[in-house]
Amino acid sequence: MSDKTLESKFLGKLLYNQDQIVNRAKELAKQIDEDYEGEEVILLGTLKGSVLWLVDILKYTTVDTKVEFISASSYGSSTTSSGVVKITYEPTLNLYNKHIIIVEDIVDTGNTLKYLVNKLNERGPKSIRICTMLNKQSRRVADVKPDYIGFEVDDLFVIGYGLDYDQRFRGLPYISYLEESDIEYL
Ligand code: IMP
Ligand code: MG
Repeated sequence: MSDKTLESKFLGKLLYNQDQIVNRAKELAKQIDEDYEGEEVILLGTLKGSVLWLVDILKYTTVDTKVEFISASSYGSSTTSSGVVKITYEPTLNLYNKHIIIVEDIVDTGNTLKYLVNKLNERGPKSIRICTMLNKQSRRVADVKPDYIGFEVDDLFVIGYGLDYDQRFRGLPYISYLEESDIEYL
């Protein structure tokens, strides 16, 4: 992609560029390699936001991995989640006695993840850990603690690298944030 195209695609205020994100994914993939040496792991991506981050973790870990997805929707407005969660796609792989790493885009209140972890535990996995690209610690309500964190972020509305505003902007090759004044023009 030429610089011009990238520039015309630019939206929001930059937080992390692609190089920073990929380098962080490499660091976490290395930690995963150490933690799961000789084991098989299911990387369980949460649709749709985690896909770009999942691809990076998947590319750089050398652990024996299988890929699976789960989709949960939480009801609420487009910028906050309500805590009422519904699973709209269930993993088809057998999760019994498997190590699972849930790969998330962002942990905000933690309500979605708390629900997912409880649901997944019903399927008898050997272990469940969480690898999130972003962690909004200041907004945490539910008792969930990601094991692998790409970056901590302040209480901002972030977009890009999988994250959406009203289903848009997931393809931005960087993470930025929107302010109220930006949203008026979208
Ligand atoms: P939680 O249940 O409050 O932790 O919210 C979880 C989901 O809300 C995330 O997986 C995202 O899909 C979405 N979300 C939370 N904060 C943001 C944000 O700043 N930008 C885009 N999506 C977000
Ligand atoms: Mg998500």
